[in-house]
Amino acid sequence: MKPKIYVTRNLPKPALDKLEKNFDVEINSEDRILTKKELIKKVKGKDALLCLLTDKIDSDVIKSNPDLKVISNCAVGFDNIDVKTANKHRIPVCNTPGILTETTADLTWALMLSAARRIVESDKFNRAGKFKGWDIMLFLGSDVYGKTLGIIGAGRIGTAVAERSVGFNMKVLYCDNRRNKEIEKSPVNAKKVTLDRLLTCSDFVSLHVPLTKNTIHLIGEKELKKMKKTAYLINTSRGPVVDESALVKALKNKWIAGAGLDVYENEPRIAKGLSKLDNAVLTPHTGSASHETRTLMALTAVENAIRIIKGKKPLHIVNPEVFGR
Ligand code: GLV
Repeated sequence: MKPKIYVTRNLPKPALDKLEKNFDVEINSEDRILTKKELIKKVKGKDALLCLLTDKIDSDVIKSNPDLKVISNCAVGFDNIDVKTANKHRIPVCNTPGILTETTADLTWALMLSAARRIVESDKFNRAGKFKGWDIMLFLGSDVYGKTLGIIGAGRIGTAVAERSVGFNMKVLYCDNRRNKEIEKSPVNAKKVTLDRLLTCSDFVSLHVPLTKNTIHLIGEKELKKMKKTAYLINTSRGPVVDESALVKALKNKWIAGAGLDVYENEPRIAKGLSKLDNAVLTPHTGSASHETRTLMALTAVENAIRIIKGKKPLHIVNPEVFGR
């Protein structure tokens, strides 16, 4: 008999095929996120759970089946999973780091360029038939080339974003708990600075920290007020890293020039007033959304689950300590 897995949402076909070969698969066929009650019901009697970042795998869900052999998250971030409770029950939690680094860095740059050059506003203007000819004052934005990029969180994605700045001849500042010698070297030549200095000196502030209790509202009213009036805030990390209502205030009152956001404090809800602002470019948490990357993420999440079930080392594990005890 094959081990039983519950999959919380449809996946790209190659991943489903691989799942079918290795598991007795039950999949959420509805095009929506399951409620906690539904999740608890579905997880019962399963050997494995493959979930997405939109599924809240809290202590109640985990306790409803403490015999789960693996929770495989199809995402790099794992703030949706109560890892402490998983640890208590010695359930390995897996994620998909590395795979989506470049794709998310690409979207970060797309947001930077779109916000600075007012791409979305210009597109809407054209489609509305308002373009009456070249105008010296039409849609003036901000240069990116030669400006200062501030990276908050210089891990994998922060590093990839910094590396892309070389072609734009940018000065790069970063802040992180750890030194990142890789981006301090040529050609990036990034300089490690304090958060205060980064906020006051950067033309583009880009967030790449994980969501933890220390990073909730890392950027609030006080920090936004420290930024240059001409600066842009870009967030492709996790929504709650930014106090979204403070950001709406900052954008409305022009404390900063604009923002490019892929993530939101209360997804899928977007803070009141945010979608009315022309100086915000808003994408729907699509940082890793390329065909190639999403397929590879799903395949990796499946591979992690297979390996654990077979008693092998997974490709990526969040809580290796569960094997040590
Ligand atoms: C995306 O946000 C991820 O964590 O994979």
